[in-house]
Amino acid sequence: MRVNLEQAIAKLKRGEVVAIPTETVYGLAADASNENALQQIYAIKERPANNPLIVHIATKAQVGDWAAEFSPLAQKLAHAFWPGAFTLVLPAKPEVLKIVRAGESTVALRIPEHAMTQQVLKESGLGLAAPSANKSTQLSPTTASHVAHGLGEHVPVLDGGACKIGIESTIVAVEGDEWRLLRLGMIGEAAIALVAGKPANKNKQATPRAPGQHLLHYSPITPIKLFDSKSDLIDFATTHKGCVALMIGDGEIASGKTFNLPNNPHTLAEKLYDTLHQMDALNAALLLIEAPPNQTEWLAIKDRLSRASHKTL
Ligand code: TXA
Ligand code: MG
Repeated sequence: MRVNLEQAIAKLKRGEVVAIPTETVYGLAADASNENALQQIYAIKERPANNPLIVHIATKAQVGDWAAEFSPLAQKLAHAFWPGAFTLVLPAKPEVLKIVRAGESTVALRIPEHAMTQQVLKESGLGLAAPSANKSTQLSPTTASHVAHGLGEHVPVLDGGACKIGIESTIVAVEGDEWRLLRLGMIGEAAIALVAGKPANKNKQATPRAPGQHLLHYSPITPIKLFDSKSDLIDFATTHKGCVALMIGDGEIASGKTFNLPNNPHTLAEKLYDTLHQMDALNAALLLIEAPPNQTEWLAIKDRLSRASHKTL
């Protein structure tokens, strides 16, 4: 069900759930200080209770409502990457509801850049918990119709157009003057290290759990097979009928439909989930996908595709 801005804000203030656009993917939003509202998010998404939620806020002044510590390093990163596709995991204030942080001692915060999201946040005055607006482990939505398709027409959706970034935010945990990368997004590790003035702490024992990082994730219903080379993909398709292909740049398979995405990580990311949604709708036996090159700017896309393909590898 589509709702307008005023309806969305009124619903959120009443403790109801509304899917909202952001520049990364659509989020299923609810008042992050309302336990009942948050329970609806977990129920609709069929999300495991041990997977915490990102709280979206309008301004840096609100960080102190949620985080017990906003260290100089965290402030530097916030200043460089907010508003944007960047989430900071910080030590939580004890009063942050357990259901938001799934019992962790930290809270994840993000200031999104999307103008309509900003308006919802500013006019409601709320911190909004919003995981991606899809069923747990399924493909994230980048349009309002993806949300309706994935969660059902009864879920209210605020339509803010197609998401410009197209994959989920980069997540960084900061404790004092140390930072760790919990999830890759289009803001890469090198850019963060440059702002931080130091590399990520990669000590495994020190790394906080990122409970949502299931190996099978971001996944269409149709199984996926990844190929490191175009010619391997094309060869495979000649002996396996009923496949649909996704290739980077040029190329096609003779036996089925081929989707081609631009050979640029940013424009490809913007279209990636929409293309996977379209491919999934064709009820093919298998989705054949050309893996991106081994260069750092493609790492976030590689991460999503390898998680999506896990069940067939
Ligand atoms: O771009 C995005 O981040 C989108 C939009 C809607 O903002 N949101 C999103 O939410 O991707 P979700 O719930 O699908 O993924 C959030 C990830 C999960 O893997 C979760 O485990 C992790 O963030 N997370 C949340 N709070 C955390 C915490 N306190 N500590 C560690 N990981 C946390
Ligand atoms: Mg998600």
